[in-house]
Amino acid sequence: MMKFAGYTLITSFTPTHSIILKNPRRFRFGLNLANSRNISAAAEKHRLNAKTLMVAERYLPPLFSVAPMMEWTDHHYRTLARLISKHAWLYTEMLAAETIVYQEHNLDRFLAFSPEQHPIVLQIGGSNLENLAKATELANPYSYDEINFNCGCPSPRVAGHGCFGVRLMLDPKFVGEAMSVIAAKTNSPVSVKCRIGVDDHDSYNELCDFIYKVSSLSPTRHFIIHSRKALLNGISPADNRRVPPLKYEYFFGLLRDFPDLKFTINGGINSIDEVNAALLEGAHGVMVGRAAFNNSWQTLANVDSAVYGAPSSGLTRRQVLKQYEVYGEAVLGMYGKKPTVRDVAKPLLGLFHSEPGNGLWKRKADAAFLHCTTMKSFFEETLDAIPDSVLDAPIGEVPSGSENPFANIRDLLPPPYKEKEQEVSYA
Ligand SMILES: Cc1cc2nc3c(=O)[nH]c(=O)nc-3n(C[C@H](O)[C@H](O)[C@H](O)COP(=O)(O)O)c2cc1C
Repeated sequence: MMKFAGYTLITSFTPTHSIILKNPRRFRFGLNLANSRNISAAAEKHRLNAKTLMVAERYLPPLFSVAPMMEWTDHHYRTLARLISKHAWLYTEMLAAETIVYQEHNLDRFLAFSPEQHPIVLQIGGSNLENLAKATELANPYSYDEINFNCGCPSPRVAGHGCFGVRLMLDPKFVGEAMSVIAAKTNSPVSVKCRIGVDDHDSYNELCDFIYKVSSLSPTRHFIIHSRKALLNGISPADNRRVPPLKYEYFFGLLRDFPDLKFTINGGINSIDEVNAALLEGAHGVMVGRAAFNNSWQTLANVDSAVYGAPSSGLTRRQVLKQYEVYGEAVLGMYGKKPTVRDVAKPLLGLFHSEPGNGLWKRKADAAFLHCTTMKSFFEETLDAIPDSVLDAPIGEVPSGSENPFANIRDLLPPPYKEKEQEVSYA
């Protein structure tokens, strides 16, 4: 029912978009490789340019994206996010290549999405080249706008399971091979999401080596940098998103040292002011994770106008919920008992963050999950906790007052990367 079957192209272009397309820096590829590699690299570059431009012509660029988050950025969340922002790029949860391969006859459940969710990026994880290739091939008919490879997940369930997630940063040659295999099997551009290091492998030079090798050995031209390292000492994934300090200076060092690549900054960015501050400092894109889920309205409602300079949806939260109710009723129980009202309502719980009535609405929601079987009854039972003034408020001004975390970043940049002149060659 939800299977993707062609989509309407977004043909409106804002001035921002034309600036990006006209900026040759973003689309220049000049790597110092041996001759034979140069020829295939040139062909690859051409193919990649074509892919990148194809996507760029359909949608505004990924100035703002919502991070991949397991069990959070599912189809339900993305439906809600798209009702609030038309232009934000949406990432799926990470899907293991093996899941896609083993569910070959049940792919819609994992890969299908409604056409409104474009621009949308599929994130895959894995460490088996054959499965990565097969998974990418199986995903191809769904027409994701980019395929992203997870090199940042520190979960022991992932990182401890062979070489998977962030551990792959220790093996850039493998990541280069994996990205080549993925790129060969898709019609979409490819990207890598990684951290700035792992355990003691946390110098700026090591990060640059990773970026240089992966981009030299594969057509990867876009990296999303979660700007803290990962610790593989057994701390929880949640602590791994909190304990290692953010080092935005590494991100801005990469922008300086790899002018032919595109970099999206991620980690600890919580407001539209901070998003715009990162873009002003030269980031090609900004990815927001937890804030886009836990405080979805404040984070997403101003993206179209304040980041893209495009009209916002103009919807109030009551209107968003009305549309979401229609979606919810249509998908409830689609897979036997799943999804439940709790599953479908989960993304809504960040919609009234720090508004009057939020605590009561969450308590009512908890109680309603125990017996409500329709979205209509769920809303009837809970929404009276939220004042009309909140439900009917138009999208407001961007809340200001947060400090610019990048104000002195130029003073903190690491020394320039020197090694990239050396040719990367592997036996
Ligand atoms: C619940 C949760 C699940 C996550 N799952 C993934 C994932 O599947 N793939 C991934 O690359 N990162 C995952 N992340 C990390 C986020 O994509 C992001 O890098 C991280 O939260 C830092 O960004 P933030 O500070 O804006 O939240 C997850 C984060 C959270 C909170």
